[in-house]
Amino acid sequence: MLRASRVLFSSNLVSKSFNSASVLQRSSPADTVIPAELFGSAKKAILIGVPGAFTPGCSKTHVPGYLKHYDELKNKGVELIGCVSVNDAFVMDAWGKDLKVGDKVTMLADPQGKFVKDLELDFDASAALGGYRSKRFALVLENGKITKAFVEPNNTGLSVTLAENLLKEL
Ligand code: BEZ
Repeated sequence: MLRASRVLFSSNLVSKSFNSASVLQRSSPADTVIPAELFGSAKKAILIGVPGAFTPGCSKTHVPGYLKHYDELKNKGVELIGCVSVNDAFVMDAWGKDLKVGDKVTMLADPQGKFVKDLELDFDASAALGGYRSKRFALVLENGKITKAFVEPNNTGLSVTLAENLLKEL
């Protein structure tokens, strides 16, 4: 990790693509998607990772920021915004409806945490959330390749991964 005054930038993720064997879920366990294909089909995309559906930081600040700044992100060429969490697909689907994401943010479930573990973006959140969860992160991808990676220094904070920061970085 390279620490700069404004960002915590994860250099080991840059230039990587998602593992082609990784699978995520959308509205149900049967509704599967291959992230390498989903993000590979967008010229520019953002994937945020969050510690948990319905948690205050994720529900009140993190995801709503991407909805609030959706038009500006689109104007900067972002074609796809995804949100992944180590939760089951039914919870992610219900959370997306609660947040009224519509088709602005694609809610992605990683029920076993394999996707985030593969990216070394998991952490032990058992004290608060009962198990391993996703660190809070934001990745910028171009044609499926990670070009920028921001990871909250304390795993769950709300700073470098916010939409306001990504807007400056695009
Ligand atoms: C949150 O509010 O985002 C949060 C709460 C507990 C654990 C992790 C994250």
